[in-house]
Amino acid sequence: MMTFSRMAVLGLLLVSSLASAQTPYTDDATYVGLGGKDGIKKIVDTFIPLVLADPRIKDNFADFDMAQLNVRLQEQFCEFAGGPCKYTGKYRDKTMDGVGTVRDMTTVHQDLKITNAMFNALTEDLQIAMEQNQVPSRVSNKLIAKLAPMQRAIVTTTTQAKPEMGKFLATGGVSQVEGAGGGGITPWALISGYGTRDSWGANAHYTYIDTQDYKLNSYGVAVGIADRLELSLATQEFKGSLAPLNQLNIKQDILGVKLKVAGDAVYEQDSMMPQVAVGILYKRNKGVGGLGALGVTNVMQLGAKDDHGYDYYVAATKILFEQSLLLNGTLRATRANQMGLLGFGGDQGDSMRLMPEVSIAYLVNRKLAVGAEYRRKPHNLGVDHEKAYYDAFVAWFPTKHVSLTAAYAQLGDITVFNPKQQHGLYLSLQTGF
Ligand code: HEM
Repeated sequence: MMTFSRMAVLGLLLVSSLASAQTPYTDDATYVGLGGKDGIKKIVDTFIPLVLADPRIKDNFADFDMAQLNVRLQEQFCEFAGGPCKYTGKYRDKTMDGVGTVRDMTTVHQDLKITNAMFNALTEDLQIAMEQNQVPSRVSNKLIAKLAPMQRAIVTTTTQAKPEMGKFLATGGVSQVEGAGGGGITPWALISGYGTRDSWGANAHYTYIDTQDYKLNSYGVAVGIADRLELSLATQEFKGSLAPLNQLNIKQDILGVKLKVAGDAVYEQDSMMPQVAVGILYKRNKGVGGLGALGVTNVMQLGAKDDHGYDYYVAATKILFEQSLLLNGTLRATRANQMGLLGFGGDQGDSMRLMPEVSIAYLVNRKLAVGAEYRRKPHNLGVDHEKAYYDAFVAWFPTKHVSLTAAYAQLGDITVFNPKQQHGLYLSLQTGF
């Protein structure tokens, strides 16, 4: 397993190698990967019928010369991909006679009242067109890296839309084990659900972790508002499986609030700025069951100072389409023992401590990501040998309504009498819009 410092160095190297995404590639690898001029023609020939059949955007193209648009798009994609072409942009609005040639994307699109969801729909159609022409994902993502920053020029309209699921697939993350949007064990800066800045989205999740010594279930709901604010509610249920702790059960409720404060993980492909969010998780431990014979009914009898507490975190998430990677770093201030399952604070320490968490994921294709995560934790309780959590995961997003995450998770020694096999399968199902 990769150490935290190695993962952090790898992340920094990748971020610093990010080229300026708005200028065309200087080598022709992406152009060649797209199949050269012939390949790009085939992609655009597939793309335009998809756009014209897409109920989310087709009406916008009703009055336009699609043959001309086809040629312009071929030129533009070829140029950005590093091929031997120049986008000639002979665009002219009916009312602009005499102004001359206009090449900037803002002028071309300004009268079309394009929203974020429309921009994403069109980009998704392009991804599908590339898929249908057998372009490998690592190549198609390189073209998307060049086009995504055009969102700033092309999207000029906001609407008060009903839930429209306008975000790109997978960009709401999955539900982490405390209910926030993120990876499996770490909150990310992404906001849950598929609502864009004009809308909202929501999801429910059920997560099941099975080790030889215990099982941990988490279930809950999350709402993402305007792709800026996330509210989440989750319950964790911990159950011992091995004697003498086979009757042990602990429950806690977690309320989360997360606010995106800067950056955009998807569109800002031409800068190193990640999406940044701050969050709070309020946790209330609901007591210990199954240890009545020992007279233990709450976590304070195990040495914890409190049965409730707050985690505060700041998370930075960057999607690097050019490298088909997602990187996340989260810094959490916490007093929680085993996320709060064993209470807050203890004989070894009772102050807030800063704990780093990192995640890295490779975007295998539009629907599949594989990755690894690491989460450091404080060690406040003398009776509990608390250690870091880590996992290696596969997340599958067959549609925007469902995601399934499977992982191998190592959650340290939570039950102290049987610290043998406290690692195992992690399965999580998320459904929503
Ligand atoms: C990554 C996103 C986009 C890119 C790269 C892109 C690129 C282009 C290009 C190169 C042209 C041709 C301009 C010319 O004639 O020189 C164009 C025109 C056009 N685009 Fe986009 N576009 C994008 C998003 C959108 C969206 C989201 C819509 C609407 C849903 C849209 C609707 C149109 C229409 C209707 C025209 C024709 C304008 C005219 O001929 O007057 N575009 N676009």
